[in-house]
Formats: sequence, structure tokens, C-alpha cells
Amino acid sequence: MKLLLLGATGAVGNNVLHLALKNEQIESVIAPTRKPLDLIHPKLTNPVTDFSNLSSLEDCDAVICALGTTLKKAGSAEAFVKIDRDLVLKLAQTCYEMGAKTFILNSSLGARPGNNLYLRTKFEVEQGIEQMGFKRVVHVRPSLIKTVRAERRLAEELGLVVSSILGPLIPKKFRPVEALAIGQTLLQESLKDRPGVFIIESEKIGP
Ligand SMILES: NC(=O)c1ccc[n+]([C@@H]2O[C@H](COP(=O)([O-])OP(=O)(O)OC[C@H]3O[C@@H](n4cnc5c(N)ncnc54)[C@H](OP(=O)(O)O)[C@@H]3O)[C@@H](O)[C@H]2O)c1
Repeated sequence: MKLLLLGATGAVGNNVLHLALKNEQIESVIAPTRKPLDLIHPKLTNPVTDFSNLSSLEDCDAVICALGTTLKKAGSAEAFVKIDRDLVLKLAQTCYEMGAKTFILNSSLGARPGNNLYLRTKFEVEQGIEQMGFKRVVHVRPSLIKTVRAERRLAEELGLVVSSILGPLIPKKFRPVEALAIGQTLLQESLKDRPGVFIIESEKIGP
């Protein structure tokens, strides 16, 4: 299986990358990134691109997308939507046209229409991908991602502290999920070939 991975430098994407390279069912991984990956592997192709053109994309069987930014990094709601929705949909459409059959999206707990910019954007990406015609689409919807980051993300850190204090009192659906567990689920789903659109809620994430 030839896998195209979007977001390979991120917390979730990096876990997918390492798992995919170890997985015998995967022949090759194409991972376009803005900065070169600190990794050389015979199965890995790592085109470096600013994503302004899509020439870094190659034909593949399945796509895993863990690409996304934050409102703070993007700088405005408009800029956030341009990345988390418009760029993801543009990449997905190109992969579809190049023959990809499966698209696995790292979405978010609570993705839905409404006033919340983040949840609405994730929902609109889910909808856009469903309409493209992929044979198999899976939206994986994690709660807060548990990971160690080089940068500070105060809201995320606060959420992780509160949930570690409350522990089992928090319903499973809302508990933070390890980036590794999300990576495992994204990869497992990319290897299945059951056609249709599927949603994996946060409490079901993990091997
Ligand atoms: N944080 C949470 O608790 C949480 C919860 C649920 C869902 N999610 C969603 O899960 C996904 C993955 O999360 P994560 O924590 O793994 O994200 P992350 O660590 O912030 O990684 C994001 C990835 O997207 C890439 N990216 C960002 N902006 C880009 C741009 N303009 N052009 C090209 N690539 C760009 C980054 O590349 P660079 O290294 O080049 O920046 C990186 O590879 C995101 O979509 C996020 O919204 C997050």
C-alpha cells in the first residue's frame, strides 16, 4: 500500500509516520512537509514544499491527513479556515484526482455546524471530503491530544492539567487521547478497504 501523509511534522502525523515506516503492509510513504524531516528511510519520500502548488503530491492508495494549525498561529479566523479547511480540501481533491481511494482525516471531537469556528471548520472539512467520491472515508475525532510540544499552547496545557486532576471522573469521550493512539487508529483505518463513510469518536481511539 502506498500512503500519502499530510502533517508528518506534527504530533499526530509524526506518530503515523514512524508506525507506517515499520508496517509491512505499507510499501512506501510520501510525506510532503514544509521543513525537511529529520529522517531517512528507504520507504520514505519527503518532498519539501510550501504547498502553494501541489506538485509534491504523488499518486497513492490512501491518504492520512493530520495537517492543521491553531487560531493563534494562523493569526485570524480567516487564515485559520484557509489552512484547516481550504488547504486540506484542495490537497484531498488533488489526491482523489490522482487516484487515491481512501481518505483518513484527523478531525476533532464535536465537529459540527454552528458558531464555534474550530468545530465548524472541522465539520466543513469532513463534509467536503465526503462529497469528493473517495471509496472509503474515515473521520477520526479525538478529544484533547496528549503530547509534549516544543511550543506553548496554554488552552491545551490547561485542559490536560484539569483532566489529569479529574481523571476517571471525566467521561471517556472527553478524556485526552495520546497522539500515539490517534496515529495507530489513523493507520489501521487506512489499511482497511471497507467502502463507506465512518466516524471514530474519541472513546474508540486506540489499538
Ligand atoms: N490539539 C488538540 O488537542 C486537537 C484535538 C483534536 C483535533 N486536533 C486536530 O488534529 C490535527 C493534528 O493535530 P496535531 O496536534 O498533531 O497538530 P500539530 O502538532 O500542530 O501539527 C500540525 C501539522 O500541520 C502542518 N501545518 C500547519 N500549518 C500548515 C500550513 N499552512 N501548510 C502546511 N502544513 C501545515 C504542520 O507543519 P509544520 O511543522 O510545517 O508547521 C504539522 O505537520 C489538527 O488538525 C488539529 O486541529 C487537535
